[in-house]
Amino acid sequence: MIKVGLCGFGSMAKGHAQMLQLHDGVELVAIADAVEENRKKAAAQYGVKVYESGEELIDAGGLDVVFVVVPTYLHNPLTIRALNKGCHVFCEKPMALNPQLCQEMIDAAKKADKALMIGQVLRFWPEYVFLKNTIDSKLYGKLLALSMQRVGGVSTGWQGWYLDEVRGGSQLFDRHIHDADAILWMLGKPKEVYAHGCSRDPRTGGGVFHSFTEYYYNDDMVVSAEGSSDTVEGFPFTATYRAVFEKAVVEFDCRRKPTVLVYAGAEPFAPEMEGGVEDLKSGMNIKNAGPYFFEERYFFNCLKKGIKPETVTPESAMQSIAMVRAEVESAKTRKPVKLQ
Ligand SMILES: NC(=O)c1ccc[n+]([C@@H]2O[C@H](COP(=O)([O-])OP(=O)(O)OC[C@H]3O[C@@H](n4cnc5c(N)ncnc54)[C@H](O)[C@@H]3O)[C@@H](O)[C@H]2O)c1
Repeated sequence: MIKVGLCGFGSMAKGHAQMLQLHDGVELVAIADAVEENRKKAAAQYGVKVYESGEELIDAGGLDVVFVVVPTYLHNPLTIRALNKGCHVFCEKPMALNPQLCQEMIDAAKKADKALMIGQVLRFWPEYVFLKNTIDSKLYGKLLALSMQRVGGVSTGWQGWYLDEVRGGSQLFDRHIHDADAILWMLGKPKEVYAHGCSRDPRTGGGVFHSFTEYYYNDDMVVSAEGSSDTVEGFPFTATYRAVFEKAVVEFDCRRKPTVLVYAGAEPFAPEMEGGVEDLKSGMNIKNAGPYFFEERYFFNCLKKGIKPETVTPESAMQSIAMVRAEVESAKTRKPVKLQ
């Protein structure tokens, strides 16, 4: 039995706790959270041992795996602590707020010879896997244009950490990181990024909470992404992409059924893709928790086989952090930034 400890019992960790019940040979045995009410809920719902902090949970020992699902500024210290204690770690995205912190996590995983996987969930999301496969196979010829969007309302989180650039890194690190990571995963590293941003809600303190980024690869392809956690209440969370190929347009819209349509002839068609775990009440801004289940399943399958996860290596997650850092710099200086 793989014994799992969960650091955090906020909105995302509650989803992970539900999904952790669904894997064979995996047992959630402990949960830590800084808020007493969350600890009470965790104990009542799962009958597990509860701790006031992730640090205490890790130090208590007896775990094979630690899930780090706490505010982003705590990813580095809790991940390294768990690896040093001899545990494998699944850490939510974004890996950390700068490449140096990521490198420390990678070094700790290497030293401990343990698996470290970051929850870059789009790499397990059927609609995005479909797009990557379509690009790789060149089924519809070369990709000429890709635009992505991830737009929704304001997140505050525990002690307002989402709104604080030092603890949360702003929307670019939190929400937009999904598309930034998907762009790197699908297309590799661009030569240059050019980002613009603004904010609406006064609680954001003027950080970049609505952003547009252009990614420059070459003169034959245009790539852009819009990210926001700054829309007015009532506007529904929206994730989309439109990929223009030489011989087709592939379009995804999370608010439409079917979510993906391929325009490659007289009538558009909806390609088949793996379904989800529809009945989870995840509390997340998506109706279908399937991809989160898929990433967990992949992680545990790697552990069961004794191999390190390759679909998201910590090095590739660090690359996404480095690129988003460059986007923040670009948005602040209002200049394009070349990537090393
Ligand atoms: N993959 C995704 O789509 C996705 C979606 C949402 C959030 N996330 C990520 O999940 C992480 C958590 O986000 P959230 O929305 O659940 O935040 P949240 O603010 O809802 O919850 C964070 C929880 O961490 C607890 N906490 C704080 N310090 C702690 C410590 N030292 N030990 C144990 N618990 C501690 C708090 O009490 C709080 O309940 C973030 O990194 C976020 O980026 C990922």
